[in-house]
Amino acid sequence: MRKKKITIPDILQMKQEHSRISMLTSYDYPFTRIMDAAGVDIILVGDSVGVVVAGHETTLPVTMDEMLYHVRAVRRAEPKALVVADMPFMSYQISIEEACRNCGRMIKEGGAEAVKIEGGMNMAHVIRAVSSIDIPVMGHVGLTPQSIHRMGGYKVQGRMGQADRIVEDAHAVQAAGAFSVVLEGIPARLAARISSELSIPTIGIGAGPECDGQVLVIHDILGLCEKYSPKFVKRYAELEPIISAAVRQYVSEVKDGTFPTPEHSFS
Ligand code: KIV
Repeated sequence: MRKKKITIPDILQMKQEHSRISMLTSYDYPFTRIMDAAGVDIILVGDSVGVVVAGHETTLPVTMDEMLYHVRAVRRAEPKALVVADMPFMSYQISIEEACRNCGRMIKEGGAEAVKIEGGMNMAHVIRAVSSIDIPVMGHVGLTPQSIHRMGGYKVQGRMGQADRIVEDAHAVQAAGAFSVVLEGIPARLAARISSELSIPTIGIGAGPECDGQVLVIHDILGLCEKYSPKFVKRYAELEPIISAAVRQYVSEVKDGTFPTPEHSFS
């Protein structure tokens, strides 16, 4: 098990050393405890919690209070991994003041060590302001799920003459002071180009193998999200049938009286 806490300088150094960065989402204490012991570098408390845990169709309904609840639960596992809190829709778009206050709450009340903000050139002023008060920011460009209505669905971005805009977004995020940037849902060649041009680490999701790191949603890799199965997800386990079999057996043993036994009873 890892002994040392992972910090922002460690993440920056990993790019210098060509050591790939592993990031996964987590929303609670038990998953964080398990994945931290398994050696993940960054834990993202993603607003994907709204889809994979709360059952919403999109990430848009997720609130600050809901995110804070999950960030605190993750922190209680005292992970060695860097903890990044996703900023929910409308928590950072209205004004710089509100963005700084809400990002500050994630650090101060939630215990996160960095925040993630979706957007490129359009959000550079926010990233600059938040970074300038020493709150480390992870950017997020390409397919930004909070922009689902503008994009008309979860569609690959950066095709058909749009590549330069994504490159400019990534550069704007870096120039504004972000310590890393998520590249989501863009062609692998474009992600490779951005990763070689930027000095900060790129973390890809559906962005091919040439990023400095990779991120996936934990429920997706464990086979716990039947709603969506995007092409970029690799399932490392199929937990649904295992959970289903355990629950069936419990129900059947309660019904036929084989649970509880004296072993599970007090004398
Ligand atoms: O909310 C989330 O989980 C994310 C990642 C998938 C990048 O933003």
